Amino acid sequence: MTSSVLRVTLDQPFTDQKPGTSGLRKSSRQFETPHYLESFIEAILRTVPGVAGGTLVVGGDGRYGNRRAIDVISRMAAAHGVTRLITTTGGILSTPAASNLIRKHGAVAGIILSASHNPGGPEGDFGVKVNGVNGGPAPESLTDAIYACSQSLDGYRIVEAPAISLEAPGQHPIEALTVEVIDGVDDYLALMQQLFDFDQIGDLLRNNYPIAFDAMHAVTGPYARRLLEGLLGAPAGTVRNAIPLEDFGGGHPDPNLTYAHELAELLLQGDDYRFGAACDGDGDRNMILGRRCFVNPSDSLAVLTANATLAPAYSNGLAGVARSMPTSAAVDVVAQQLGIACYETPTGWKFFGNLLDAGRITLCGEESFGTGSDHIREKDGLWAVLFWLQLLARKRTSVAAIMADHWSRFGRHYYSRHDYEAIESERAHGLYDRLKGLLPSLADERFAGRAIATADDFSYTDPVDGSLTTGQGLRLLLDDGSRVVFRLSGTGTQGATLRVYLESYVPPSGQLQQDPQQALADLISAADALAEIRVRTGMEAPTVIT
Ligand code: G1P
Ligand code: ZN
Repeated sequence: MTSSVLRVTLDQPFTDQKPGTSGLRKSSRQFETPHYLESFIEAILRTVPGVAGGTLVVGGDGRYGNRRAIDVISRMAAAHGVTRLITTTGGILSTPAASNLIRKHGAVAGIILSASHNPGGPEGDFGVKVNGVNGGPAPESLTDAIYACSQSLDGYRIVEAPAISLEAPGQHPIEALTVEVIDGVDDYLALMQQLFDFDQIGDLLRNNYPIAFDAMHAVTGPYARRLLEGLLGAPAGTVRNAIPLEDFGGGHPDPNLTYAHELAELLLQGDDYRFGAACDGDGDRNMILGRRCFVNPSDSLAVLTANATLAPAYSNGLAGVARSMPTSAAVDVVAQQLGIACYETPTGWKFFGNLLDAGRITLCGEESFGTGSDHIREKDGLWAVLFWLQLLARKRTSVAAIMADHWSRFGRHYYSRHDYEAIESERAHGLYDRLKGLLPSLADERFAGRAIATADDFSYTDPVDGSLTTGQGLRLLLDDGSRVVFRLSGTGTQGATLRVYLESYVPPSGQLQQDPQQALADLISAADALAEIRVRTGMEAPTVIT
């Protein structure tokens, strides 16, 4: 048989393919530039160890560009000697389910097609994420090597062949490569059944306990339907916006109070539901709501940690926990009382990987609606939803009561994140660099009536491999335990996004029932004055407040 491998020459390399916090994320239009996607895939296939003769897992959140990318990757994988490529019906594969498949099948890597919670469609965003053998986001050493490869690329290899059908499970050869199309939901359901007590949760959901889950027309719809309405017996219609759409129905699949406001209104203003939850585009984020109660993600991690032994998978206790630096210290207080280790890592799930692999932590999370455990190497939206349902099924109480009880035991960390999106890049960097320059002069100054104990740019030494990561966010730690952190986002695609994280702690004996924006008002105005946010951005208010 003559080989149909085509060698395509690039006139010049694409020099802008630097992966950010979660892979290469650009506009869909950019990805449609001739050879653009192919160039990045070539860089991946040349860089990841073990590609020739290895197994790859490929799938995505169903957004515009998903199927085309699976076709391109399959044919390029064939040209690079990959033996087995596992993909899914409809190309639908959530990020946590992909992490599970990579681990289960001993794949050399996974390529996940998603721009997470960013809008999709021809005018939206697309993204390519690379996960390593452990199922987690590729470490910086690998993404740096992929970037370096892309910068000097002179061409790529691809097999000329018709696109394989993703309509049904089956096996399709492309030269020596076998493409296996499997159901992307099955294995994930089986994993969840190992972790939680489905009889107990089903008992709750079958007996007049109405809940609402919003899949936001993104990847979790098929998973949530089979889990909640299928295995757990919740009434049909429990899962809203369950059909994945290429443009997410025009929505912004980010589960927070701004973008999941329909669900938020149902729970926070109405009385019809006892519990509500939503996940993001690729299914790794979660938002948890109770009746008239929003659970802030930092608190969610703390509550799951405090109650972990109620879930079968964690009944023997936790090895330790970790949170990203901007996440509130609510979990630290719980870890201290439990006598387990608590690690503070830079933003981005990849930093949990070594701690999970080394068995140092069992649970971890980020303030950005990400929570997960050692069952995979990604954050996992539906896992968090099931974990909360497990607590509710065991405790037979409300979400609001669980929160009140938690704060009365551990104290409360008032917390909020203010995002200023799409700032003109130079302005944002100007603001940030000025603030960074001010840090040395801030030690021993006062801020919002409190003494500044530390003013620094966060850096992290990985306790497992000793690697150092610097420049992770400007922190002002105040003497009463409150803090303000400034960071520039690594995931935006338009201009720059400034994130301001605000936190103050009230011990169990303190006043506990305040609105976070009120409780943090003095920190908010002091942060604006110090960083000159309004003046320098021209924005009167944050774009998103969580
Ligand atoms: C954001 C979140 C971060 C998360 C990442 C990927 O990154 O803040 O916690 O890991 O998305 O989901 P950022 O835009 O802040 O760099
Ligand atoms: Zn996501």
